[in-house]
Amino acid sequence: MKNTAFFQKLIASARKIESIMGDWCMNVKTGMPVFFSHARGINRDAFDFETNAHSTIIKAIRLLRLGPSDVVVVLGCGRGRAACHFARQYIRKVIGIELEPQLCDVARKNGESLRGRRAEIEILNIDAASADISEGTVFFMFNPFGERTLRMVLKNIEATRDITSEPITIIYARPLYDYVFNEFPWLHIIHDYKSITGFHTMIYRNLVKRNQEPRLGRIDG
Ligand SMILES: C[S@@+](CC[C@H](N)C(=O)[O-])C[C@H]1O[C@@H](n2cnc3c(N)ncnc32)[C@H](O)[C@@H]1O
Repeated sequence: MKNTAFFQKLIASARKIESIMGDWCMNVKTGMPVFFSHARGINRDAFDFETNAHSTIIKAIRLLRLGPSDVVVVLGCGRGRAACHFARQYIRKVIGIELEPQLCDVARKNGESLRGRRAEIEILNIDAASADISEGTVFFMFNPFGERTLRMVLKNIEATRDITSEPITIIYARPLYDYVFNEFPWLHIIHDYKSITGFHTMIYRNLVKRNQEPRLGRIDG
């Protein structure tokens, strides 16, 4: 028992240090102070603001090969930690969606002060349940809401993207409602990881049909 409590305290301290150091490196303030959310969203299932570990986000970025056509949508972006990490990549754009207007203001400021920004960041103060997210190719969530909103978001992606030919990636950190993904058989788990200072994260992707046209071989001679 004593050992478990000691280990938990050690992890909490490591997370705090990681949070401060990561923010300092990026020249942003995405962690402290504590913020108590009031907005609950149209489905009344919003979770309070809490920030993800830098390491969890960095690992997701390393595992995925993002390209210049990618648009990353962070659902429940809080103060913009994940949005800032993605905006340091060579991608088209990052869209952060957040219910709390105060958090949106901070996320916008962080986007401006961010060191090493390569992509535009747009922060929208709207509900993820009804947002137009049809531009997105990659979606990031750190357990922002309950299963009703999650289901609406996945249905929205299914309805607005061509899921058979356009690659769609969904990163779901602290995946409390991973069973909702079973209702969307076109999504497959491609990564599932945990780290000591970070959070359990699952990454889903669709299977994209290869171009059916026969490839022309090179004719030498
Ligand atoms: C666990 S925090 C994650 C914050 C951020 N992704 C990070 O790692 O720092 C969840 C955030 O989602 C927001 N949220 C919850 N439900 C939402 C909804 N329906 N639409 C938009 N934002 C929502 C909350 O206000 C909160 O800031």
